[in-house]
Amino acid sequence: MRIEHVSRSFGGVSAVADLTLALGRGEIMGFLGANGAGKTTTIKMIIGLVRPSSGCISVLGGDPADSAVRAKIGYMPEIAYYYPYLNARELLSFYGGLCGMDGRTVRARAGELLETVGLADAAKRPLKTYSKGMLQRAGIAQALLNDPDLLVLDEPFTGLDPLARIHFRDLMRRLREQGKTIFFSSHELGETELLCDTVAIMKGGRAVYQGPVRQLAGNGERNLERLFLDVLSKGGAA
Ligand SMILES: Nc1ncnc2c1ncn2[C@@H]1O[C@H](COP(=O)(O)OP(=O)(O)OP(=O)(O)O)[C@@H](O)[C@H]1O
Ligand SMILES: [Mg+2]
Repeated sequence: MRIEHVSRSFGGVSAVADLTLALGRGEIMGFLGANGAGKTTTIKMIIGLVRPSSGCISVLGGDPADSAVRAKIGYMPEIAYYYPYLNARELLSFYGGLCGMDGRTVRARAGELLETVGLADAAKRPLKTYSKGMLQRAGIAQALLNDPDLLVLDEPFTGLDPLARIHFRDLMRRLREQGKTIFFSSHELGETELLCDTVAIMKGGRAVYQGPVRQLAGNGERNLERLFLDVLSKGGAA
């Protein structure tokens, strides 16, 4: 994935300004920044939901507006609005249909994924009865349904209990071993430090830091937290 000199404004508001980012195949990148820093806007441009005002984005070697490229992306939104009367299995069947997957593949994959995210026992309950973390788990299953090459997740850790976070981290690592590329936004610095190869930190629509996470580790301190505070406390708009 390559983002080159991308800007996006909404009316007079600049959400993303001259952003350049690169993410290699099989890598996990964490995307950090304060509320309103431009993370969700960038994510929506990566998946082709919002067009850049200027600059270009190449995803899996193509244009994210191209449906063949989109079919290889898994996306979990920041806030999901699911049909409340569907159960988790029906939700996955519905998305499978939208992705053009055949019914038998969807059923097999849905069973596997509901097991993976720990929702097998609740799979027949309507989503309106789910807790926040259960809905988040359903969102993760939905994002993985089409066996995507690129996973784009907007705040995937929000609402997950500690055990679910550990499972989620392991799952992301297994996907990386399979060569999948993962880009996720987060406010969870500890989780990001444990999981990512690289991080980008946004401030006022610009990336104020991009680099490997491993370099930061070493003396047992929360180094990403320190870096985050350092880069955000330097001058410029928040
Ligand atoms: N559709 C829109 N119309 C107008 N302004 C928007 C729109 N979408 C985003 N913005 C503005 O763009 C800026 C960046 O928003 P964005 O949602 O990308 O931030 P974020 O980094 O995801 O924040 P958070 O951590 O709170 O999720 C904000 O000032 C926001 O108000
Ligand atoms: Mg956001």
